Amino acid sequence: MIKLTLSLLEEGESSLSVQLVSRKYENVLQQMDSGILLFDRDGELCFMNIQMEGMLGAPQHLFLGCTLSQLIRHPYMGRDKRKMIVRIYKETITRCSKYCECNDSQGRTWLVTVTYGDQLDGDVLLSFKDISESKRIELTAVQNDKLAMLGQIAAAIAHEIRNPLTSIRGFIQLLRPHLQTLGKDEYARIILSEIDRANDIIYEFLNSSKPTDPMKRDISVSSLVKEVILLSESEALMKGCQIDFAEHAVPLYVSIDVKQIKQVILNVIKNAVDAISSIRREHDGLIRISVARKGSYAHIMIRDNGKGMDKLTMSRLFDPFFTTKQAGTGLGMSVSDRIVKNHGGTIEVQSEVGEGTEFTIVLPLAAH
Ligand SMILES: Nc1ncnc2c1ncn2[C@@H]1O[C@H](COP(=O)(O)OP(=O)(O)OP(=O)(O)O)[C@@H](O)[C@H]1O
Ligand SMILES: [Mg+2]
Repeated sequence: MIKLTLSLLEEGESSLSVQLVSRKYENVLQQMDSGILLFDRDGELCFMNIQMEGMLGAPQHLFLGCTLSQLIRHPYMGRDKRKMIVRIYKETITRCSKYCECNDSQGRTWLVTVTYGDQLDGDVLLSFKDISESKRIELTAVQNDKLAMLGQIAAAIAHEIRNPLTSIRGFIQLLRPHLQTLGKDEYARIILSEIDRANDIIYEFLNSSKPTDPMKRDISVSSLVKEVILLSESEALMKGCQIDFAEHAVPLYVSIDVKQIKQVILNVIKNAVDAISSIRREHDGLIRISVARKGSYAHIMIRDNGKGMDKLTMSRLFDPFFTTKQAGTGLGMSVSDRIVKNHGGTIEVQSEVGEGTEFTIVLPLAAH
């Protein structure tokens, strides 16, 4: 009699411990950072964790007992989630895949994993993991690969272009005394400095797959902008664009590689001129440049009243080789972005189709 009572007690204790263990595991599943759906051997939903409730935006009791195909038609299921479940259904049930990737309406990417087999006793487990961050890193890696390819192309371009540039440079130097006698030494000086700039750009391209530290010196933002305007004004005027510069009252100093940042501003101005001339404004093309201080940064704003950009163009603006122009290389903005980032700055863009575009080059102020 006593023996029987003891064994009953033991049985009670062991079923209690089984309950405790299963509650513990359920708790672990509830707290997981992935969404979990568990279907029993009849294909009916028997468990859903908190994360999954959050994703579906409704409590689990509304869905328990539903099959995957009933979930698709469930009245609580919005259009986007329905689309996602249809895709999972196709991949897992029709194509028997163990993984599938889905995007939701908020632009997040989910990795859905299906687990079934003997170890699950006929049950089917679907887990949903948010992999948006790793996708973003993957995308950046692709972008970096493109930049590495840019380096290889640059090497080929440099090889082909450097030689004729060297000959032109040599002949201009030979012609220089004749130009001096004609009082046109200024022309020779400009040609030589432009050839040097072209050589520098090639050098810069060559190094684009392994960015080097810029050769920095302190310069006032206003004098930098004025120098660039001098270089680009005549071409802009020929294309019907006036360049207007509102100087900042207090001088702002930045510590930069002057040649590199000049190239950035030139690229932006050249794009502004192209955007204006593409809508054939007669003489009302206007490029407004202004400078401002925001905290410990200098902002160089370059605004144009050109054709503006749509969302697609804006999203691909900094991609190497992305261009909407017949004769464009699509390298201007990608190189500029990298140069400015190497200086610890950023390039911001605002644009409206038919209205114009404003680029803001943000650079850290020099420490004084
Ligand atoms: N100010 C602007 N207004 C309208 N679209 C612009 C502007 N700046 C850039 N874009 C768009 O961004 C694209 C990429 O510009 P990016 O400077 O990188 O290359 P590109 O100008 O096409 O070629 P490249 O600079 O080699 O001549 C352009 O083709 C154009 O569609
Ligand atoms: Mg350009």
